Amino acid sequence: MDIKTIAVIGSGTMGTGIAQVAAMHGYRTILFDINDVALKKAKLNIEIALENLAQKQKITTEQKNASLHRITYTSEFSEINADLVIEAIVENLKAKQDLFSALEERMPANTIFCSNTSSIPITQIASACKYPERVIGMHFFNPAPVMKLVEVIAGEASDTKLVDIVKKVAENMQKTAILVKDYPGFIVNRVARHFYGESLKILSEQAAEMEQIDELLEATGFKMGAFKLMDLIGVDVNFSVTVSLFNAFYQDARFRPNLIQQKKVEAKFWGRKTGKGFYIYPEQK
Ligand SMILES: NC(=O)c1ccc[n+]([C@@H]2O[C@H](COP(=O)([O-])OP(=O)(O)OC[C@H]3O[C@@H](n4cnc5c(N)ncnc54)[C@H](O)[C@@H]3O)[C@@H](O)[C@H]2O)c1
Repeated sequence: MDIKTIAVIGSGTMGTGIAQVAAMHGYRTILFDINDVALKKAKLNIEIALENLAQKQKITTEQKNASLHRITYTSEFSEINADLVIEAIVENLKAKQDLFSALEERMPANTIFCSNTSSIPITQIASACKYPERVIGMHFFNPAPVMKLVEVIAGEASDTKLVDIVKKVAENMQKTAILVKDYPGFIVNRVARHFYGESLKILSEQAAEMEQIDELLEATGFKMGAFKLMDLIGVDVNFSVTVSLFNAFYQDARFRPNLIQQKKVEAKFWGRKTGKGFYIYPEQK
């Protein structure tokens, strides 16, 4: 199947990056969000990102302009028409199920529905669909334009033919696509829970300050310390993923969420996107 148009649903941290990557690699791209403010922010961020790449001569001005022309921004549900959909909305099972159910009602029978979920089993998302065989996981990492890995996740009901199609799309985007099983958190996020969890535990025991923990982790070779990374990912998103894994593994104590993180979520200290998380980002306010 020849994929020409990709619809990215949700224009937050991930949707913005994924839409930029799709457009840069030749796909006609529709970026949809229910929130006009998020959509405007996404447009501005993509323009800035592409301009920066052009300034650094990583792409030509023609490539920048062509990429920008390939993207349509919309909050009109009826304007979502694509060969492949990549869902990047809030990390909530019901929201994702409702979205796919609404989309499959009005999209052609061969449309492929991918979820960028970090932690919700693809099988569960697909279970609410009339055509669960059309649903598959396509998990990008943050920031999507930079990170090479894409986990491809086939759910129990996914048509196995989708795997090759989705892998090919990821490879066309210059990504490394790896097929993983539909287990909670897949591979990377499951392992990463302990990176965040232990750092939060050290902080809650007052064994070290967060700056010191980050500094030490970075000195050992991690690109970012746990607290800086949670702020980049979104403290709210990171917390939802932890809660989802904790529940998926029947409250296994190894995945227990931390109250420090919960309080940040409740206070809307969600990291870079809200101007404050573990650290403060005055420029983002
Ligand atoms: N942030 C990360 O580092 C990261 C990495 C990989 C995967 N993910 C996953 O990607 C998804 C999105 O995460 P994010 O960090 O981009 O979230 P975000 O909070 O930055 O953005 C979510 C966007 O979805 C929009 N939205 C919510 N409900 C919608 C709906 N029904 N239809 C259309 N738009 C809707 C919101 O308005 C918002 O703009 C989540 O499933 C998350 O687990 C996140």
